[in-house]
Amino acid sequence: QQRENIRNIAIIAHVDHGKTTLVDQLLKQSGLFQQHEVVQDRMMDSNDLERERGITILAKNTAITYKDYLINIVDTPGHADFGGEVERIMKMVDGVLLVVDAFEGCMPQTKVVLRKALEHQLIPIVVINKIDRPNARAAEVIDEVIDLFIELEATDTQLEFPVVYASALMGTASATEDKQDENMLVLYDTIVEHIPYPTEQLDAPLQFLVTLLDYNEYVGRIAIGRVNRGIIRQGQSVAVMMRDGGIKSGRIEKLYGFQGLKRIEISEAGAGDLVAIAGIREINIGETIADPAHPEALPVFAIDEPTLQMTFLVNNSPFAGREGKWITSRKLRERLFKELETDVALRVEETESPDAFIVAGRGELHLTVLIENMRREGYELQVSKPEVIVKVIEGKKQEPYERLFVDIPEESLGAVMESLGSRKAEMINMINHGNGQVRLEFRIPARGLIGYRTAFLTLTRGYGILNHVFDSYGPFVGQTVGGRHEGVLVATEKGVSSFYGMMSVEDRGTMFLEPGTEIYEGMIVGEHNRDSDIVVNICKEKQLTNMRAANKDETVKLKTPIVFSLEQALEYLNNDEYCEITPESIRLRKKIL
Ligand code: GTP
Repeated sequence: QQRENIRNIAIIAHVDHGKTTLVDQLLKQSGLFQQHEVVQDRMMDSNDLERERGITILAKNTAITYKDYLINIVDTPGHADFGGEVERIMKMVDGVLLVVDAFEGCMPQTKVVLRKALEHQLIPIVVINKIDRPNARAAEVIDEVIDLFIELEATDTQLEFPVVYASALMGTASATEDKQDENMLVLYDTIVEHIPYPTEQLDAPLQFLVTLLDYNEYVGRIAIGRVNRGIIRQGQSVAVMMRDGGIKSGRIEKLYGFQGLKRIEISEAGAGDLVAIAGIREINIGETIADPAHPEALPVFAIDEPTLQMTFLVNNSPFAGREGKWITSRKLRERLFKELETDVALRVEETESPDAFIVAGRGELHLTVLIENMRREGYELQVSKPEVIVKVIEGKKQEPYERLFVDIPEESLGAVMESLGSRKAEMINMINHGNGQVRLEFRIPARGLIGYRTAFLTLTRGYGILNHVFDSYGPFVGQTVGGRHEGVLVATEKGVSSFYGMMSVEDRGTMFLEPGTEIYEGMIVGEHNRDSDIVVNICKEKQLTNMRAANKDETVKLKTPIVFSLEQALEYLNNDEYCEITPESIRLRKKIL
């Protein structure tokens, strides 16, 4: 293949904006599928679970032939738990298709993925998809996209992005908003015209960066990536430059290119080609495959650290074997370690018990997907509650924090703020779109998100959208978030600010005090009943406010601001009935008061 006729692009979007449907259409229309071949719906998501949930979990390579061109399309996972993978894919391509829903417009994940593309100096083509939707608002969405580019400090070249209006569902596209063409030709042409072709050197020593992994029972681990320099040949001996600087030797047993959704064996490929390689055992993400005569490594990139872990256990209960097949610890071990072959964001650790393994990943969804996959394969297992991975950084305990974005109907604002408040989220930004929709941004301890999705959907009656990305490691808040805890509401004379004293039931003895939000109408003190009950009791006792009596399932709404005096605050904090006092809590209290 002539380099001039190759295009490498990634497709990026917020979840559900239509990436998979779009690539399916591009494939169908490229004439690749002959009449006899069965065209399944949603061809891109090969994994059952992905199909059922409608989310793309693992990035996939597709290659489309259009005229004399070979267009390699790398699908990116849309969910925030898999952001690291998106980042790596950006290094494989020369441009991106940014798919934006013509009604929903720019969503948090749109911003996250676009930022990654722009940081890698990639040329974006904006596809305003779902133009067929009756409430499509393409012009406004384009404005949002421009604002987003500016906010992300796009360069002048990046700002001159081409726009294609499309309906992936109907298989149509057009360069203008008003009328759709009969097919998607304009999109193929835009890709060919605007995305640069690879220009890396062919006559140079080989370099190939392992960017994605796949696994196949027959050939083992498969490394996928881009030939950055030189030529790669089947059968060739290579040097493998490891992330820690070490070098090992290997041989390219099998070399594959992409055609449609398939991998096809090829004898050689050149700089700028996307290929898959089999035959190098233990090959890993971030390693460079190089010419043994010139073993030069490409820059090493960071791999997302796992933030959440669970224990996976062999089901030894008397009921074992009822739901699925009973498995041995050896089988469980094998299955978990096999998962490591393709998923770099996952960690598996053995424990003292041969029946138990600690499995760590990027978030709840990441781990749940694995569990569901295993259940489907017939594995019967028990899992523990997820917990965050705590690190010691500069002698201090730190835990992971996430950047959280929520889009919610205005009427659920109060309830969502309260629920996040009790989970220690700190608001960073709030935009009221003025159309009944509010967008909020928070920084929240990762533990606060455990199990939150369901509560969030209930609070927003299913209309809320929730997204998060890893932010940083921050102060350890311990068990005081989310779970069961007792609390006392305290305010000082300095007006209507509050201190929210919380002590976890699981973690008796540590007490956590933190300046909270202002108390105003509608603010709920903790989403948990115990908290509410205690606050209600105090308030009733002191006749501090005219509040609604809370029953077990009801959260309490304060009708008027509550202002405790300093003495009252201390009294409650010292009241053994509500809190246990420890040296740490006294120290904290002194600091605050
Ligand atoms: P993830 O893989 O989860 O990131 O989603 P995705 O971006 O691949 O979206 P997908 O292609 O699964 O589409 C999401 C939903 O939108 C599906 O129900 C599609 O049928 C629908 N959809 C996709 N394109 C269009 C379109 O052009 N018009 C309309 N009306 N619906 C569309």
